[in-house]
Amino acid sequence: MSVVFSEAARAEFERLLSRYPDRRAVILPALHLAQREFGYLSDEAILYVAELTGASPAEIEGVATFYTMYNRKPVGKYHLQICRNLSCSLLGAERLIGHVSEKLGIRPGETTPDGRFTLSVVECLGSCGTAPVMQVNDDYHENLTVESVDAVLDKLRSEE
Ligand code: FES
Repeated sequence: MSVVFSEAARAEFERLLSRYPDRRAVILPALHLAQREFGYLSDEAILYVAELTGASPAEIEGVATFYTMYNRKPVGKYHLQICRNLSCSLLGAERLIGHVSEKLGIRPGETTPDGRFTLSVVECLGSCGTAPVMQVNDDYHENLTVESVDAVLDKLRSEE
């Protein structure tokens, strides 16, 4: 099945093109746009972005798999990404990962059967000064404790 941008996304892509000096510079924002538009970066989405940017599918695939912010598999409504790099590890990231894993009944890389939560363990989220950090979709939650992670999860659950 092939994928194609909506009119609005296509217009946004054209705006990106006008802002960046060449088509290759637009790969990262184009992948971001594709992920927002399609939910994750399927093989079809990779081919589509390659076509749009004039890069090879292998190059797009390489970029999409290098950065943890891009999802090559479908993710739940809430994508929980817990950093386990140095600062976060020193301040209890492993404990938080174990806690969330147990609470949701999934391991890192898995999605709850109801499709609401995906848990990922990622490298530095660039907010080491406020470690430990968890990103939920586009939002950052910082200086986390088991209690504050519980509060985040409870709030997300109550939003249903
Ligand atoms: S080490 Fe976790 S945000 Fe940098």
